[in-house]
Amino acid sequence: MDAPMPDPIILGLESSCDDTAAAVLRGREILSSVVMGQTELHAAFGGVVPEIAARAHAEKLDLAVEEALSQAGVTLREVDAVAVTAGPGLIGGVLSGVMLAKGLAAGLGKPLIGVNHLAGHALTPRLTDGLAYPYLMLLVSGGHCQFLTVRGPQDFTRLGGTIDDAPGEAFDKTARLLGLPQPGGPSVEAEAKSGDERRFRFPRPLLDREGCDLSFSGLKTALLRMRDALVAEQGGLHAQDRADLCAGFQAAVRDVLAEKTRRALALYLDEAPAEPAFAIAGGVAANGAIRAALETLCAERGVRFTAPPLRLCTDNAAMIAYAGGELFAAGETADMTLAARPRWPLDRNAAPLIGSGKKGAKA
Ligand code: KG4
Ligand code: ZN
Repeated sequence: MDAPMPDPIILGLESSCDDTAAAVLRGREILSSVVMGQTELHAAFGGVVPEIAARAHAEKLDLAVEEALSQAGVTLREVDAVAVTAGPGLIGGVLSGVMLAKGLAAGLGKPLIGVNHLAGHALTPRLTDGLAYPYLMLLVSGGHCQFLTVRGPQDFTRLGGTIDDAPGEAFDKTARLLGLPQPGGPSVEAEAKSGDERRFRFPRPLLDREGCDLSFSGLKTALLRMRDALVAEQGGLHAQDRADLCAGFQAAVRDVLAEKTRRALALYLDEAPAEPAFAIAGGVAANGAIRAALETLCAERGVRFTAPPLRLCTDNAAMIAYAGGELFAAGETADMTLAARPRWPLDRNAAPLIGSGKKGAKA
């Protein structure tokens, strides 16, 4: 009898936003995952500056690759295929990655695989928890909020998404309006623990509209009005006011996400999946109140609940190598004409959503 084929070793590259990353995977085993952030380079500008990001990626990518290979104890010759984020994202950074990947693949005579960055995020629950297709995914971060039915490495249906801000962005703005430290999510969550969520009546945007689209910009306007009314009345905010505002805001986000998840689950379960599963990914998945609400919903419906660890939810190259491995197994390799794409929706049939978050195509 033939011995089973060993899993291929995939080198993954990621450079679509402000993290330069390289990783080496053997099947689902992460041999290394190196992420070099650029936060300090952009700190003075209040956002990611595309030109600065592109230059930093060009400088750092080969160092990230060297580091990833060395941590994995793998030589370039042992790599079976090179996977790279080919979009969507900031074009200068994506180009740096695609060019390096082409050079490596051509030099080694190994296959090249172009990966959609969002597919990398969406396939992460298969890497971390081995979920079977189809599963329901909620990507919820500082730049994204969308429900996806994930059916295959290139087969996604978007059930809905935010029409304005992403929830993480709303948490960050709330923190800013209340003088709490950034990133806003953890500080708002900490304040909310000692607050009364019923003292202030926050709206529950878009619940009156059918479907799974969401909206969060009205919450920050509501918060601004409440804060200003308190300041006008009392000359400032008491600690308890701040805690109650945070609790009310967080409860509104939780309720909106829970109701839309309930609807998305109903659509997903209509298809009678054999092993029903739900995955939440992105920075906001760290929120205990939101997580608990969604976990309860899933338990009530007999759906497995998963949440990949945060280091694999934020941008990284392990998810790109993993998605690349699935494409490789399906024979979906690219050639030297592989193009860098600034826009590349996962669901080509879904209408574009208004606004895609402060950092563009991040998930
Ligand atoms: O996925 P992520 O790290 O990357 C970007 O989208 O850039 O998400 C970061 C976002 C931030 O807006 C942050 O405030 C939010 O996730 N976040 C949270 C919590 N921890 C991080 N939001 C709510 N509750 C949290 N505990
Ligand atoms: Zn991302």
